[in-house]
Amino acid sequence: MYETLFFGKEKINLEKVDSTNTYLKQLLADSKDLIEGLVVITQQQELGRGQRGNYWQSEPNKNITFSLLIRPKISVSDQFMISKTISLGVVDFLIAEGIKNVTIKWPNDIYIENTKIAGILIENVLKGSSIDAVIVGVGLNVNQLWFANLPNATSLRLINGVEFDLEETLNKLLFFIEKRYLILKKLNFFSLDKDYIKHLFRINELHNYEISNGIVQGEIVGVSQSGKLQININGVVQEFDLKEVKMII
Ligand code: BTN
Repeated sequence: MYETLFFGKEKINLEKVDSTNTYLKQLLADSKDLIEGLVVITQQQELGRGQRGNYWQSEPNKNITFSLLIRPKISVSDQFMISKTISLGVVDFLIAEGIKNVTIKWPNDIYIENTKIAGILIENVLKGSSIDAVIVGVGLNVNQLWFANLPNATSLRLINGVEFDLEETLNKLLFFIEKRYLILKKLNFFSLDKDYIKHLFRINELHNYEISNGIVQGEIVGVSQSGKLQININGVVQEFDLKEVKMII
Protein backbone atom coordinates (compact mmCIF):
# COMPACT_ATOMS: atom_id res chain seq x y z
CA MET A 1 0.00 0.00 0.00
CA TYR A 2 2.82 2.38 0.83
CA GLU A 3 5.08 1.24 -1.99
CA THR A 4 7.66 3.78 -3.13
CA LEU A 5 9.06 4.14 -6.65
CA PHE A 6 12.70 4.63 -5.72
CA PHE A 7 13.04 5.99 -2.18
CA GLY A 8 14.54 3.34 0.08
CA LYS A 9 14.80 0.70 -2.64
CA GLU A 10 18.43 0.56 -1.58
CA LYS A 11 19.12 0.81 2.11
CA ILE A 12 22.26 0.73 4.20
CA ASN A 13 21.31 -0.35 7.69
CA LEU A 14 23.87 0.45 10.35
CA GLU A 15 23.58 -0.81 13.90
CA LYS A 16 25.46 2.22 15.16
CA VAL A 17 26.99 5.32 13.53
CA ASP A 18 28.07 8.83 14.52
CA SER A 19 25.68 10.53 12.09
CA THR A 20 23.86 9.12 9.07
CA ASN A 21 24.31 12.47 7.30
CA THR A 22 28.07 12.40 7.85
CA TYR A 23 28.22 8.75 6.75
CA LEU A 24 26.29 9.42 3.54
CA LYS A 25 28.35 12.52 2.80
CA GLN A 26 31.54 10.46 3.07
CA LEU A 27 30.08 7.69 0.93
CA LEU A 28 29.21 10.25 -1.71
CA ALA A 29 32.73 11.66 -1.64
CA ASP A 30 34.16 8.14 -2.06
CA SER A 31 31.79 6.91 -4.79
CA LYS A 32 30.06 9.55 -6.88
CA ASP A 33 27.52 7.31 -8.62
CA LEU A 34 25.23 6.47 -5.71
CA ILE A 35 21.63 5.86 -6.70
CA GLU A 36 18.96 8.47 -5.99
CA GLY A 37 16.69 7.32 -3.19
CA LEU A 38 19.45 5.54 -1.26
CA VAL A 39 18.67 5.51 2.47
CA VAL A 40 21.21 5.21 5.25
CA ILE A 41 19.47 4.26 8.48
CA THR A 42 20.70 3.47 11.96
CA GLN A 43 19.29 2.20 15.23
CA GLN A 44 21.77 4.20 17.23
CA GLN A 45 23.14 7.57 16.23
CA GLU A 46 25.90 8.65 18.56
CA LEU A 47 26.58 12.16 17.27
CA GLY A 48 23.37 13.10 15.51
CA ARG A 49 23.65 16.55 14.02
CA GLY A 50 20.93 19.17 13.99
CA GLN A 51 20.53 22.69 12.68
CA ARG A 52 22.46 25.63 14.14
CA GLY A 53 25.23 23.18 15.17
CA ASN A 54 22.95 21.46 17.69
CA TYR A 55 22.94 17.77 18.48
CA TRP A 56 20.04 15.51 17.63
CA GLN A 57 19.31 13.26 20.58
CA SER A 58 17.57 9.98 19.97
CA GLU A 59 17.27 6.97 22.26
CA PRO A 60 18.70 3.83 20.56
CA ASN A 61 16.14 1.49 18.92
CA LYS A 62 13.21 3.80 19.63
CA ASN A 63 13.11 6.27 16.79
CA ILE A 64 13.79 6.77 13.11
CA THR A 65 17.06 8.46 12.16
CA PHE A 66 18.04 8.27 8.52
CA SER A 67 19.56 10.11 5.59
CA LEU A 68 18.21 10.02 2.08
CA LEU A 69 20.09 10.85 -1.11
CA ILE A 70 18.27 12.93 -3.72
CA ARG A 71 19.41 14.66 -6.90
CA PRO A 72 16.85 17.35 -7.71
CA LYS A 73 17.46 19.26 -10.92
CA ILE A 74 16.86 22.70 -9.54
CA SER A 75 19.10 25.73 -9.28
CA VAL A 76 20.91 26.74 -6.12
CA SER A 77 18.68 29.80 -5.83
CA ASP A 78 15.67 27.48 -5.45
CA GLN A 79 17.27 25.27 -2.82
CA PHE A 80 14.75 26.19 -0.14
CA MET A 81 12.18 24.26 -2.21
CA ILE A 82 13.89 21.10 -0.93
CA SER A 83 13.16 22.10 2.66
CA LYS A 84 9.54 22.73 1.78
CA THR A 85 9.24 19.40 -0.04
CA ILE A 86 10.68 17.28 2.75
CA SER A 87 8.80 19.09 5.54
CA LEU A 88 5.53 18.66 3.66
CA GLY A 89 6.23 14.95 3.19
CA VAL A 90 6.67 14.53 6.95
CA VAL A 91 3.53 16.59 7.59
CA ASP A 92 1.51 14.44 5.14
CA PHE A 93 2.75 11.30 6.88
CA LEU A 94 1.72 12.59 10.33
CA ILE A 95 -1.69 13.67 9.06
CA ALA A 96 -2.13 10.18 7.56
CA GLU A 97 -1.38 8.81 11.05
CA GLY A 98 -4.41 10.76 12.25
CA ILE A 99 -2.39 13.38 14.11
CA LYS A 100 -3.93 16.82 14.50
CA ASN A 101 -2.35 20.28 14.66
CA VAL A 102 0.74 19.41 12.64
CA THR A 103 2.75 22.45 11.58
CA ILE A 104 6.14 23.34 10.14
CA LYS A 105 8.17 25.60 12.36
CA TRP A 106 10.34 27.57 9.98
CA PRO A 107 12.52 26.48 8.35
CA ASN A 108 11.76 22.76 8.69
CA ASP A 109 11.04 21.59 12.23
CA ILE A 110 7.90 19.52 12.50
CA TYR A 111 5.65 20.46 15.37
CA ILE A 112 2.52 19.11 17.01
CA GLU A 113 1.03 22.09 18.79
CA ASN A 114 4.01 23.48 20.74
CA THR A 115 6.13 20.33 20.72
CA LYS A 116 8.67 19.07 18.22
CA ILE A 117 8.25 15.57 16.77
CA ALA A 118 10.73 15.65 13.89
CA GLY A 119 13.80 17.53 12.70
CA ILE A 120 15.31 17.77 9.24
CA LEU A 121 18.89 18.54 8.28
CA ILE A 122 19.46 19.20 4.59
CA GLU A 123 22.99 19.35 3.25
CA ASN A 124 23.68 20.21 -0.38
CA VAL A 125 26.64 18.99 -2.35
CA LEU A 126 27.26 21.61 -5.04
CA LYS A 127 28.99 21.23 -8.38
CA GLY A 128 29.83 24.72 -9.58
CA SER A 129 26.60 26.67 -9.43
CA SER A 130 24.30 23.66 -9.51
CA ILE A 131 23.17 21.10 -6.97
CA ASP A 132 24.90 17.77 -7.53
CA ALA A 133 23.32 15.87 -4.66
CA VAL A 134 21.37 16.53 -1.50
CA ILE A 135 21.63 14.67 1.78
CA VAL A 136 18.30 14.80 3.57
CA GLY A 137 18.61 13.82 7.21
CA VAL A 138 15.41 13.14 9.10
CA GLY A 139 14.95 12.37 12.77
CA LEU A 140 11.43 11.33 13.73
CA ASN A 141 10.60 10.58 17.34
CA VAL A 142 8.56 7.40 17.33
CA ASN A 143 8.47 5.23 20.45
CA GLN A 144 10.57 7.31 22.85
CA LEU A 145 8.62 8.29 25.97
CA TRP A 146 11.11 10.37 27.91
CA PHE A 147 13.32 13.17 26.60
CA ALA A 148 15.89 14.33 29.13
CA ASN A 149 16.45 18.10 28.97
CA LEU A 150 14.13 18.50 26.00
CA PRO A 151 10.89 19.76 27.50
CA ASN A 152 9.29 20.50 24.15
CA ALA A 153 9.98 17.16 22.44
CA THR A 154 7.28 14.66 21.67
CA SER A 155 6.89 11.33 19.84
CA LEU A 156 4.28 9.39 17.90
CA ARG A 157 3.80 7.11 20.89
CA LEU A 158 3.36 9.99 23.32
CA ILE A 159 0.62 11.32 21.06
CA ASN A 160 -1.13 8.17 19.88
CA GLY A 161 -0.47 5.97 22.91
CA VAL A 162 0.58 2.94 20.87
CA GLU A 163 3.93 1.42 19.96
CA PHE A 164 4.92 1.73 16.29
CA ASP A 165 6.79 -0.75 14.11
CA LEU A 166 9.90 1.15 13.04
CA GLU A 167 10.36 -0.50 9.64
CA GLU A 168 6.73 -0.04 8.63
CA THR A 169 6.81 3.55 9.86
CA LEU A 170 9.94 4.32 7.85
CA ASN A 171 8.42 2.90 4.65
CA LYS A 172 5.26 4.90 5.14
CA LEU A 173 7.22 8.06 5.84
CA LEU A 174 9.37 7.53 2.73
CA PHE A 175 6.22 7.04 0.67
CA PHE A 176 4.85 10.44 1.71
CA ILE A 177 8.18 12.23 1.26
CA GLU A 178 8.59 10.68 -2.19
CA LYS A 179 5.09 11.79 -3.16
CA ARG A 180 6.04 15.41 -2.45
CA TYR A 181 9.41 14.92 -4.13
CA LEU A 182 7.69 13.88 -7.37
CA ILE A 183 5.90 17.24 -7.26
CA LEU A 184 9.26 19.01 -6.87
CA LYS A 185 10.67 17.00 -9.78
CA LYS A 186 7.83 18.33 -11.96
CA LEU A 187 8.91 21.82 -10.81
CA ASN A 188 5.42 22.47 -9.47
CA PHE A 189 6.74 25.03 -7.00
CA PHE A 190 3.38 26.76 -6.70
CA SER A 191 1.65 23.84 -5.00
CA LEU A 192 4.57 23.30 -2.60
CA ASP A 193 4.75 27.03 -1.76
CA LYS A 194 1.02 27.14 -1.08
CA ASP A 195 1.00 24.05 1.17
CA TYR A 196 4.13 25.10 3.04
CA ILE A 197 2.56 28.44 3.95
CA LYS A 198 -0.71 26.71 4.86
CA HIS A 199 1.12 24.60 7.45
CA LEU A 200 3.54 27.24 8.73
CA PHE A 201 3.69 27.45 12.52
CA ARG A 202 2.39 30.76 13.91
CA ILE A 203 1.66 32.31 10.53
CA ASN A 204 -0.35 35.52 10.88
CA GLU A 205 -0.24 35.40 14.68
CA LEU A 206 1.40 37.89 17.00
CA HIS A 207 4.29 36.38 19.00
CA ASN A 208 7.64 37.28 20.51
CA TYR A 209 10.88 36.86 18.53
CA GLU A 210 14.45 37.33 19.62
CA ILE A 211 16.40 39.35 17.08
CA SER A 212 19.72 41.25 17.26
CA ASN A 213 18.26 44.20 19.13
CA GLY A 214 16.32 42.19 21.71
CA ILE A 215 12.87 40.69 21.99
CA VAL A 216 10.23 42.10 19.68
CA GLN A 217 6.61 41.35 18.91
CA GLY A 218 5.83 40.45 15.34
CA GLU A 219 3.72 38.43 12.97
CA ILE A 220 5.11 35.89 10.50
CA VAL A 221 3.72 36.81 7.10
CA GLY A 222 5.66 34.46 4.82
CA VAL A 223 8.97 33.03 3.68
CA SER A 224 11.01 34.48 0.80
CA GLN A 225 12.03 32.40 -2.23
CA SER A 226 15.51 32.14 -0.75
CA GLY A 227 14.04 30.81 2.49
CA LYS A 228 14.21 33.85 4.75
CA LEU A 229 11.51 34.24 7.38
CA GLN A 230 9.40 37.34 6.83
CA ILE A 231 8.10 38.97 10.00
CA ASN A 232 5.97 42.07 10.21
CA ILE A 233 7.36 44.11 13.08
CA ASN A 234 5.50 47.34 13.80
CA GLY A 235 4.15 47.50 10.26
CA VAL A 236 7.47 46.82 8.52
CA VAL A 237 8.19 43.40 7.00
CA GLN A 238 11.74 42.30 7.80
CA GLU A 239 13.56 39.19 6.55
CA PHE A 240 15.67 36.94 8.73
CA ASP A 241 17.91 33.95 8.19
CA LEU A 242 18.42 31.14 10.70
CA LYS A 243 21.13 32.90 12.70
CA GLU A 244 19.22 36.16 12.93
CA VAL A 245 15.98 35.17 14.65
CA LYS A 246 14.81 32.85 17.39
CA MET A 247 11.21 32.04 18.10
CA ILE A 248 10.13 32.13 21.69
CA ILE A 249 7.99 29.07 22.38
C1 BTN B 1 17.17 19.64 13.71
O1 BTN B 1 16.02 19.62 14.10
O2 BTN B 1 18.00 20.43 14.18
C2 BTN B 1 17.58 18.69 12.63
C3 BTN B 1 17.77 17.32 13.16
C4 BTN B 1 18.13 16.30 12.11
C5 BTN B 1 18.44 14.96 12.70
C6 BTN B 1 18.66 13.89 11.67
S1 BTN B 1 18.76 12.30 12.39
C7 BTN B 1 19.36 11.60 10.92
C8 BTN B 1 20.27 12.63 10.28
N1 BTN B 1 21.64 12.46 10.72
C9 BTN B 1 22.06 13.48 11.46
O3 BTN B 1 23.18 13.57 11.98
N2 BTN B 1 21.09 14.40 11.58
C10 BTN B 1 19.92 14.02 10.82
